[in-house]
Amino acid sequence: MKVMKTIIEKIDKHHIDIQIMEKAGEILKKGGLVAFPTETVYGLGANALDEEAAKKTYAAKGRPSDNPLIVHIADVEALDAIAKHVSEKARRVIEKFWPGPLTLIFEKTDLVPFGTTGGLQTVAVRMPVDEIALALIRAGGGYVSAPSANTSGRPSPTTAAHVADDLDGKIEMILDGGSVDIGVESSILDMTVDPPMILRPGAITKEMLEEVIGEVAVDKTLLSDTSGEAPKAPGMKYRHYAPKAQLMIVEGDTVEAVKAIKQIAYEQTRLGYRVGIIATNETADFYTNGVVKNIGTRNNENSIAKNLYKVLREFDDEEVSYIYSEAFAEEGIGNAIMNRLDKAAGHHTIQAKDITRLQKYRRVLFVSNSDNCRGPMAAEILRHQSLLQEYQIGSRGMVVLFPEPANQKAEAIMRSHQMTLEDHEARALEESDLDDETLVLTFEEPQKWKIISEYQHVKNVYTLSEYIEDERTIYSAHGQPLVVYGENFELLRELLGKLADKLNEEAKRK
Ligand code: TXA
Ligand code: MG
Repeated sequence: MKVMKTIIEKIDKHHIDIQIMEKAGEILKKGGLVAFPTETVYGLGANALDEEAAKKTYAAKGRPSDNPLIVHIADVEALDAIAKHVSEKARRVIEKFWPGPLTLIFEKTDLVPFGTTGGLQTVAVRMPVDEIALALIRAGGGYVSAPSANTSGRPSPTTAAHVADDLDGKIEMILDGGSVDIGVESSILDMTVDPPMILRPGAITKEMLEEVIGEVAVDKTLLSDTSGEAPKAPGMKYRHYAPKAQLMIVEGDTVEAVKAIKQIAYEQTRLGYRVGIIATNETADFYTNGVVKNIGTRNNENSIAKNLYKVLREFDDEEVSYIYSEAFAEEGIGNAIMNRLDKAAGHHTIQAKDITRLQKYRRVLFVSNSDNCRGPMAAEILRHQSLLQEYQIGSRGMVVLFPEPANQKAEAIMRSHQMTLEDHEARALEESDLDDETLVLTFEEPQKWKIISEYQHVKNVYTLSEYIEDERTIYSAHGQPLVVYGENFELLRELLGKLADKLNEEAKRK
């Protein structure tokens, strides 16, 4: 394709520059392409009544030409020239949701060329709410076809920069109106069938539509590809929105999903892969490995819809091998989010429980009397071992009155082995430390029995020696000369090597 100079114009929604809009309108009237913001995603505009313009649209996007375009109008009155048999139900939906993120399918009139509808007898129509979009449609003659302004197979653009990344040099103009509001494409409702059928979920949900027109059906191919049937919106059959790296959705409740993703990210990172993680405000801080991107807050799924494509695009620049995403509630706009994620993942999902059941312990706690010597030393030495699974490793004391620093002799010995306890503060053992996923290791029998008798429900408490089946015990070196600390270190290192082997054995047996 001939490389052209793409003009990029910033437009302020509140003070739309009429001259720029006229220039953009001229381009459309002459059969050229102008990308523009809508409330959903950026669209690649062309004159919808011009067969040749449709061809250019397909060429610029690299999109198969059997995939029909949506015709955008700026006034409801413009509908009747392009659509036939607009039912009373359709009128009610239009009354309620136009302008807005809802596309309706009607039988087409002869005015609409087959080039625009991908050969179909029906036409998709939408009246966007975005002021820039409306001004462009009016300037361009009233009927603007617009697919999302991305290269076919990439995430839809939610900023002008995304459009430029894909289409610079291939189209005449980009109108930059900043970030879009919604972030996922319009809902598509087929009005040629009764009950009307949702072909693509979006911000206008089934529930919202049913409030206005009663029963609404949903194309059953939307959330899984198991039916073997082709989706009714031709565009939904392509593996759209695909990031470069393989994306996988981890399903299950959020706590479980975070554990599963942590586990995978640790293991993959250990094997030398760079892993991407799609997390939320609520979960991002839990991840310790991988490239973590916060997609929004679970308290407001609109924020997630808005960032979805941006995050997927960012991962394309990150050179990650795999991307793992938490799943989101399939309610309201969550349906649209999960539909797009599922497509981006090529339907690859993982059940969190299938992963989490493979790891028995997620935390190892060493419990000593005062948590200022053996315990913190053991924890730090274990952190330096090569472990097949990720553990949060810590230490606690049975009798801790102050958050004391580590014993100075212990610190001196650790330093002579290139380790340090300088950040350590002694902490008392608490009931909340003793969950089922924590392996509690004491140094001596009496410590173990004290825990068992104090906390009835505690499960995994052993002495270190018992757990690794070794007779040797590490006694407190408190008040002893430095050499005794040194001997303790050597023995600890040996026993913790055995502990690492045992934990790794268990990880392999999974
Ligand atoms: O939010 C949106 O709808 C954005 C903005 C730019 O308006 N546009 C958009 O267009 O998402 P596009 O081309 O990326 O997606 C149009 C979808 C495709 O899945 C296509 O197959 C479907 O609409 N479609 C168009 N005409 C159709 C028809 N006559 N029957 C069934 N599906 C149709
Ligand atoms: Mg698209």
